[in-house]
Amino acid sequence: MCWALAATLLLGILLLLLVALGSRRRRLPSEPPLDKGFVPWLGHAVEFGKDAASFLSKMKQKHGDIFTIQVAGKFVTILLDPHSYDSVLWESSCKLDFNKYARLLMDRMFDVKLPDYDPKEEKAMLRLALQNKNLPSLTRAMFLNLQTVLLSDPSQLSRQWKEDGLFHLSYSMMLRAGYLTLYGNEKENYTDPSCQDKDRAHSAEVYNEFYKLDQLLMRAARSTLTTAEKEEAASVKGRLWKLLSVKRLNSNTNKSSWLESYMQHLAELGVDEDMQSRAMLLQLWATQGNAGPAVFWLLLFLLKDPAAMAAVQGELEKVIRNKGPTTKQMQSISQEMLDRTPVFDSVLNETLRLTAAPFISREVLADMQLKMADGREFSLRKEYRLCLFPYLSPQMDSEIYEDPEKFKYDRFLNADNTEKRDFYKGGKRLKYYNMPWGAGINTCIGKFHAVNSIKQFVFQLLTNFDLELKDPEARLPGFDKGRYGFGMLQPENDIMVRYKWKG
Ligand code: HEM
Repeated sequence: MCWALAATLLLGILLLLLVALGSRRRRLPSEPPLDKGFVPWLGHAVEFGKDAASFLSKMKQKHGDIFTIQVAGKFVTILLDPHSYDSVLWESSCKLDFNKYARLLMDRMFDVKLPDYDPKEEKAMLRLALQNKNLPSLTRAMFLNLQTVLLSDPSQLSRQWKEDGLFHLSYSMMLRAGYLTLYGNEKENYTDPSCQDKDRAHSAEVYNEFYKLDQLLMRAARSTLTTAEKEEAASVKGRLWKLLSVKRLNSNTNKSSWLESYMQHLAELGVDEDMQSRAMLLQLWATQGNAGPAVFWLLLFLLKDPAAMAAVQGELEKVIRNKGPTTKQMQSISQEMLDRTPVFDSVLNETLRLTAAPFISREVLADMQLKMADGREFSLRKEYRLCLFPYLSPQMDSEIYEDPEKFKYDRFLNADNTEKRDFYKGGKRLKYYNMPWGAGINTCIGKFHAVNSIKQFVFQLLTNFDLELKDPEARLPGFDKGRYGFGMLQPENDIMVRYKWKG
């Protein structure tokens, strides 16, 4: 009892000290504008967590393209000038560290605590497993697993119209096939019907549990879950850890080299089996949390824009249909075919420009100077967090893109069907004009696999099924605003579609 009282008192004193420190903090002339908000310690935490995009755009209007805000006791410097991003993206990790914050989130969201390791080594290992010579086998496995979940499922193959939410359809198909591709199958033969049945049932269970957790993860990252939500998150995670247990994964076949190398890496670090299963769930989120939502937006933009849909369908006819067999009869799509789709590439770039909104965050480890492209220089204090938000600029910047809120399927296409890469701000050509995959040290390692997977799913869906909006007048849903900063945005509500197998 006495101890509890003493601990509460100590905590109270500590909090008061923190509040006092926060409110005493003054901006030095060499530092970016400081906006602490009116609430001591909390600062702007509430507005920031509710809708970071509108909050930061208001701050940009007030302070310009660099400023510091107070968020739940932390001072966060926001940089919104894409011409100046290089000075952050390539700064040494002794000054600007990526891992400290990532590790904090790992723990808050997935209860993962790993021993110290060299992040560069881990990255090199993952890159090797997801790119270059391992890419073709991933692409082939994804093709076959997409057939398992989409084209071999008797419940899909009916000539009657079926209805589903487009978000649910896209996310579940992509996650299930993506999961089987990386984590392995029940049996070696992808086309064995009994093996396909088992893979369908197991991957559906993983998706259903994962989806429940996904709805809670943003608030877990901000430590704002209610007690009931914390309990729910704990029980869903418990079920997922069982589904992804090391024992279970060890018995799978067709495991990707990504999984093999990651499991070996954890074992070499001396991580016990329980923590390994937790890390497997973290990786499920890192590798599968973005592609499904990206497919949803892409299909929705196409369904709302007949000219764009016709252009993509026309390109598909040329690339796939001329080859002879339908995708159902094919065993794979070659990289050469996947690379001959400039219209689709523009559609994907445009979709991601509008709907990918990650923060690129770094912890400032030592007092330092930040040089802006226009010659200004700012001091950054140790223990501040530095954060880029490319969604606001370049992606939604009206100085760079005309009508930035509109979907224009050929925005990234030149007249000769090559990729358009020249975009300008302030009369100067931009190096970073669209950053859905991050940049610098934080570039997505799975980008090539993700692009191939998205293409394969959209191609299989559009060539084998008729797809239409249930209500052609349905408006585009708004974003779930709590997701700004965490990668692909998700819609506030699902949109119903009808689809029918072409037979
Ligand atoms: C549309 C789909 C995707 C998008 C928009 C996307 C975007 C991103 C971004 C922005 C980052 C940097 C995160 C940060 O620095 O905090 C990232 C990292 C990463 N992504 Fe993706 N991603 C996608 C799909 C995938 C897929 C399918 C995989 C793997 C199969 C993957 C694997 C990874 C990995 C391993 C990292 C961590 C890299 C590191 O340690 O620095 N991603 N992704």
